[in-house]
Amino acid sequence: MKIEVYRRAPFVDREEEIDFLVEWFNRVPQRILWIYGPKSSGKTTLIEYVIEKRLLAEKEWWKKGKYWVKYINLRGKLIISYRSFLESFIYPEDVYREEVERDYWLSLKFIGIERKRLKEIRKRERDLFEEITEVIKKEANGKKAALIVDEIQILRDLYIKNGNGARELLKEFLNFCVRLTKETHLSHVAILTSNTIFIDRIYNDARLKETSEFWKVDHLKKERVREWLREEGFGEEEIGLVWEYVGGSISRLIKVIEARKSGRDLKEHLEREAWLAYTEIVELLRKVEDREVKEGFRKICEEILREGFYQVKSDEDKKINKAIEYFSEREILFYDPLELRVTGNSRVYEKAMERVIGP
Ligand SMILES: Nc1ncnc2c1ncn2[C@@H]1O[C@H](COP(=O)(O)OP(=O)(O)OP(=O)(O)O)[C@@H](O)[C@H]1O
Ligand SMILES: [Mg+2]
Repeated sequence: MKIEVYRRAPFVDREEEIDFLVEWFNRVPQRILWIYGPKSSGKTTLIEYVIEKRLLAEKEWWKKGKYWVKYINLRGKLIISYRSFLESFIYPEDVYREEVERDYWLSLKFIGIERKRLKEIRKRERDLFEEITEVIKKEANGKKAALIVDEIQILRDLYIKNGNGARELLKEFLNFCVRLTKETHLSHVAILTSNTIFIDRIYNDARLKETSEFWKVDHLKKERVREWLREEGFGEEEIGLVWEYVGGSISRLIKVIEARKSGRDLKEHLEREAWLAYTEIVELLRKVEDREVKEGFRKICEEILREGFYQVKSDEDKKINKAIEYFSEREILFYDPLELRVTGNSRVYEKAMERVIGP
C-alpha cells in the first residue's frame, strides 16, 4: 500500500477514489457531483489532494495548466447574510491579484471581481452568479473548469435560521450550479458535505436529483486497513482487534498507530476510545427531553448490533425518524439516503452502542 507524505502527514492512498475524481473532472460537465460520507471519512483531504497533486500538478499551472479550479470551503465562515456569503469567497479584483502573486493555493479559494461591479452586486443591482459565470468564461478560457464547494450545510443552517431570504440564496446557488453543469456545460460543480440529512432533501427533490450524481467517500475497507496495519508491523490478531473497535476510520487508525508506537497497551487504548464514544452518547441521551428520540435510538442500536446496519423502512416509525435526524446531526449515526441504511458514524460508535444496550 502506498503511503506518501502530504502536508507533512502520512497520506493513505485512495487510488480508486482519486481515479474516479480525475476522470470525472475530465469529462464534459453534465451534472452536479455531491460528495458525501461519514464525518471525518477524508472527503476534504481527498479533494484537496486531487486538486493539488493531480489537477494542478503541472508547473506554472496558471499559464498552461489544463484545469481552472476554485475550491471554496465554507467551514468556519460565519455566513449570516447574503453579504457575508459574498464576502466568504469574493475579493475585489486588485486585492485578489496580490493574493495570487503571494500564494497560489490561497488564490484557489477566492474569485476576483472588479470593485465597481462588486459594489453593484452588493446592492443587488447586478447578479452575483452571472458575474461568476463571466469570470469562469474569461479565466478558464479553454481549460476544464471546476467549482468545488465544501461544507455546503453551512448554507443550510443559514436557511433554517434566517428564513426566507436565505432559502432563496441557497436555491439561487443550486440553480446556478445546474446552469453551469447541465445547461451550459461551462464548469464542473462538486459539493461536499457530511450532513446527509441535507443530502436527503436534495436527493428527494425531483429536479435536483435528476441533475445530480451522489458519490460516497466512506471509511477505509477492511482489506486496506489490514494492508496498512501490516506495514506498520501489526500482527493478525491485533489487526482484528483494531478493526473491531475503530473500523476504517483513518483519523482513529492514525491514533491507534501512534499509541502502539509510544508503547501503550493496544486493548487499553481501544477500550478507552470506545468508552469516550459511549460517554458522548450518554451525554446526548441525558440532554434529550423527547422520550421518542431515546426509544427510537435504542431500536436503531439494537438492529445495528444484530444486523450490522439499520434498514430504513418506507413507512418508518416517527420515533425512528426523529432519532435518525437527531443523532445524525450530532454525528453519532450516519444515515445514507441512497442505501437507506443507518450505521454508526464510525465503528467506534457501534462499539459504544454495545454498552448503551447492555447484555
Ligand atoms: N488519505 C488519508 N491519509 C491520511 N490521513 C487522512 C486521509 N484522509 C483524511 N485523513 C485525515 O483524517 C482526518 C479527517 O479528514 P478530513 O477532514 O479530510 O475528513 P472529512 O470527511 O472532510 O471530514 P468532515 O466530515 O469533518 O468534513 C484529517 O485529520 C485528515 O488529515
Ligand atoms: Mg471535510
